[in-house]
Amino acid sequence: MRQTIDPTGAPFRRAQRIATIQMSEILRLGALATQRRKEGRPMIVLGAGEPDFDTPDHVKDAAIRAIRAGQTKYTVLDGTAELKAAISAKFLRENQLAYGVDEISVGAGAKQVMHNAFMATLDAGDEVILAAPYWTSYADMVLIAGGRPVPVSCSEQNGFRLNTADLEAAITPRTRWLLLNSPSNPSGATYSAGQLRPILDVIKRHPQVWLMSDDIYEHLLYDGADFVTSAQLEPALKERILTVNGVSKAYAMTGWRLGYGGGPKALISAMAVVQSQSTSNPCSISQAAAIEALSGPQDTVLQWREVFQRRRDFVVEQLNTIDGIVCRRPEGAFYTFASCAGLLGRRTPDGTLIDSDAAFCRYLLDAHDLGVVPGSCFGLAPYFRISYAASDANLQEACERIALACKELQ
Ligand SMILES: Cc1ncc(COP(=O)(O)O)c(C=O)c1O
Repeated sequence: MRQTIDPTGAPFRRAQRIATIQMSEILRLGALATQRRKEGRPMIVLGAGEPDFDTPDHVKDAAIRAIRAGQTKYTVLDGTAELKAAISAKFLRENQLAYGVDEISVGAGAKQVMHNAFMATLDAGDEVILAAPYWTSYADMVLIAGGRPVPVSCSEQNGFRLNTADLEAAITPRTRWLLLNSPSNPSGATYSAGQLRPILDVIKRHPQVWLMSDDIYEHLLYDGADFVTSAQLEPALKERILTVNGVSKAYAMTGWRLGYGGGPKALISAMAVVQSQSTSNPCSISQAAAIEALSGPQDTVLQWREVFQRRRDFVVEQLNTIDGIVCRRPEGAFYTFASCAGLLGRRTPDGTLIDSDAAFCRYLLDAHDLGVVPGSCFGLAPYFRISYAASDANLQEACERIALACKELQ
């Protein structure tokens, strides 16, 4: 007779490694919204970190050609020679950075590239400095690799940028990495050359500290601002920098799972060891598509940037008309990060106290069917993040719901 095992009674025990790690709040929000939509509620969720555009046809066609040509087998572990050549050309063309093919690693998304780097470099208790607010996954990736995330708050007054004195104070002999993300998820904050230089000067003085530059939103930079990345600005530091990028955001290819990094050979080969014993090569078809995305026509990138800039202006303007909300105009990415400090202490119509950004977001979700993410998830409160990678109609409706929700607070 077959035995059935009662999963609730099984002595399941999580590894210590993930004891303090939670499922992403954003994914939880998405699941909740899906469930409520099924129940017939008119949910709008502005939580997703992905463009609402479709992958360009010429990229899809390249993938279909790759399938037909039989490119459906294992490839070289960390990227085909053709893709690495396309990435090397991209780095040179767009960032004036010379990375040879043995200085490039390709993985299943920028996320895997960063995970590989942490797994390859962090020993127990090694520290990684994160500029808060930071992308939720950074801290958990560091923890999984056995490291210790060290968040450093970046004030709104400083444009959500890292202050050099705060950075200097956070560095210890155990610091292995500073992680910088410009334009930033969630704040949209961006570092110009002049703003980046003093930070790199601090890093130069501490040879144990490496810099991970997450450039995934490189192309989503508004008002004609120029993008600059650390290794380009300070070639003397290039041997201590991992420049991370990918096709997810710039080419609306989040589902294809393709990211890459450029860095010193020793780091890249250590990262390959990690990847070799976890996932092996990124999807062969996605690699073919990424060659086309990086080397083919770039016009969609420019068109989408204009659309995002217009949406940013709309959302910022609308939020700033609402009593209790203050929203700084972000320079890049596709998020607004607005303060809800002015709402704290007010009560919802059913008497619940809004005592945190999480309480405000919960109220929007429960009473107004709107999903946005509390700043506390990104290490800085009291704020909330809106992703404006959504249709104009949904953005307009969302802003109206926020205005109504705030009006109903007492
Ligand atoms: C700041 C940041 N870095 C990296 C990623 C991951 O990108 P990928 O899809 O290439 O793994 C994201 C995705 O949301 C992100 O917001």
